[in-house]
Amino acid sequence: MSKDIVFSGVQPTGEIHLGNYLGAIKQFLNFQNECDSIFCIVDQHAITIFQDPNELKENVLSVLAIFLASGLDPKKCIIFNQASVREHSVLSWYLSCTARVGWLNRMTQFKDKAGKNRDNASLGLYAYPVLMAADILLYHADKVPVGDDQKQHLELTRDIAHKFNADYRHEYFKLPDPIINKDAPRIMSLRDANNKMSKSDVSKYSRILLTDSNDEISTKISKAKSDSLKMPSSSDELSDRPEINNLITIYSSISNIDKDSVINLFSGKEISFFKSELKDLVISLVEPIASSTNEIKSDISYLKTTLEDGAMRATERARKTIDEVNKLIGFSID
Ligand code: TRP
Repeated sequence: MSKDIVFSGVQPTGEIHLGNYLGAIKQFLNFQNECDSIFCIVDQHAITIFQDPNELKENVLSVLAIFLASGLDPKKCIIFNQASVREHSVLSWYLSCTARVGWLNRMTQFKDKAGKNRDNASLGLYAYPVLMAADILLYHADKVPVGDDQKQHLELTRDIAHKFNADYRHEYFKLPDPIINKDAPRIMSLRDANNKMSKSDVSKYSRILLTDSNDEISTKISKAKSDSLKMPSSSDELSDRPEINNLITIYSSISNIDKDSVINLFSGKEISFFKSELKDLVISLVEPIASSTNEIKSDISYLKTTLEDGAMRATERARKTIDEVNKLIGFSID
């Protein structure tokens, strides 16, 4: 039996943080071993909100370097940037003729991102989920690992695939399944445990970057919001202590020890003691990734050839899909 096809995309905007690693990249490492995996740096999604061209270039290379430093292996999976495979835009246009305006009007992420001044949002921001559907359907992905916030876009992708198949009377596109990893923890801000750890948070103390130095990690964990109690002795106490809950989640996720066992390990101890253990643990994860990222980033020609090779392999598959779709739509004369 052939392997399941996995596709996921990561935006090259801002820096990659611990939440991205534990929530996404760590899962990608398993997928590359078990599935036919394609990981795309979605630079065309990034420009739905204006990006400085130099920063965009830099960010694409940074994401790639972090992927490679984290252990994604171009021999085991395809890694490429979206803009280098034109077929994404082509299929996106076709699918935008299938998708209904009413469906897009329901997308909550657009409403959030566009804010109050919706007339001033780019058309691309509105059409963003259609490009995402094109990414996924272009490769006939079976599984799409995404965060909770992307679930609605996956449902839309399935609706588009279904309607396309119905319109053209051919079961052509597979309906992809979202993989919302229940074990993938939601890592919250270190300053406010009600919000997700995010690259757009104004406080840099809210997040740990995969490129942080050991000192920066230490400072951020020392400053992480907590409370004046001792460490909890049971998970019942966590619901009232969201900050401690978040720090325990981080500890559990990095160490692969379940949360109850982490609670047992530190039950009744001082928070400062736990924090110092957590620092060591986070540093043991981030330090090798950060140093390897720096090394890889200095080798621009390696980064470039890696992307070119990925784009070539992706293009081969994407082109086949476009050729087939052109026939279905009536664009090719044969
Ligand atoms: N929209 C996704 C995000 O912001 C990124 C993305 C673009 C994506 N295309 C995709 C994710 C295709 C999965 C599959 O997280």
